Amino acid sequence: MGIFSKALVSKPASTVTWPLFPRKVQFDWQQKSPFHWIPNDPFASHAINNFGFMLVRGEYFFCRIFNKALPHIHDEKLLTDVKTFIRQEAIHAQAHKEAIEQYLQNYGVDTAANYAKAAQLFDKILADKPLGFTLPKVLHKEWLLLRVCMVAAAEHFTAGIGHYVLCNSHWEARGADPVVSDLFTWHSAEEVEHRTVAHDLYMHLGGNYSRRILIMAAVVPILIYLMAEGTAKLAQVDPDMPKDQRNIRSPGFWKAWFNADKEHRLPGPLWLVTKSLSYFKPNYDPFYEASTELALNYINQSPGVLAAQRSVKATEVKA
Ligand SMILES: [Fe+2]
Ligand SMILES: [Fe+2]
Repeated sequence: MGIFSKALVSKPASTVTWPLFPRKVQFDWQQKSPFHWIPNDPFASHAINNFGFMLVRGEYFFCRIFNKALPHIHDEKLLTDVKTFIRQEAIHAQAHKEAIEQYLQNYGVDTAANYAKAAQLFDKILADKPLGFTLPKVLHKEWLLLRVCMVAAAEHFTAGIGHYVLCNSHWEARGADPVVSDLFTWHSAEEVEHRTVAHDLYMHLGGNYSRRILIMAAVVPILIYLMAEGTAKLAQVDPDMPKDQRNIRSPGFWKAWFNADKEHRLPGPLWLVTKSLSYFKPNYDPFYEASTELALNYINQSPGVLAAQRSVKATEVKA
């Protein structure tokens, strides 16, 4: 018996009660989406585009960690959920990678520099050999559980931000570019859809409350730092950005971020801190953090999802 055998008995291992499956998507980057894809808000445009760099490195990391956890899952339904989660996250990461290569690169963005911070965190510090250091075998399972816990904390934010986007942002109604808007809104909706899986896995593997809150206390400042640093990097290659919004040490940068949140275009730093609070409740349940119905309403009319469905049908007809 080890840390991976203490499954909860009072609750089912999987709390997903709706059909969960991976969906293909297809976004049309030939339309030359603008760098400032939210009209009159270059700051929010860059801040949300910066998410792409964090998501590519971060979501491939989620896939690697959850693949390693598969042999430790002793519940059929949860095993299916986790496999679907991995496939959804891989599609998300790939979609953002394509957006970076086919859209953002057109604007002189140094992609290697923008990936750097997230790559350092996810590919080096949180690797099986953190910073190249070989862990003793006795710590392998604890290191895996700790990283599953980090994914669960991150998923609290992806679902929370997803719910914020579905309820508040309405970028397209504000005249935003339809392709970039659809990419981030579709992804937000699928984050809401699979919001319970990482927490279910953490609990199934014997996750406890104290580790959960310690990890969240570390994740909040790291998330805000990565968002701020990456946004400033994108702003620095944009000649139209006001100078005081290109540096995280400048008050103008934080003022622009707070203003974007005030007008519900983008979650701000204070919102992120406040959002973390529900995770500290001993009876925290991600089910209550967002609405599956709202998520499915968007997914079912997402142009990217519908284009991929048409493409699959056309291929089937040809075959
Ligand atoms: Fe995702
Ligand atoms: Fe996710």
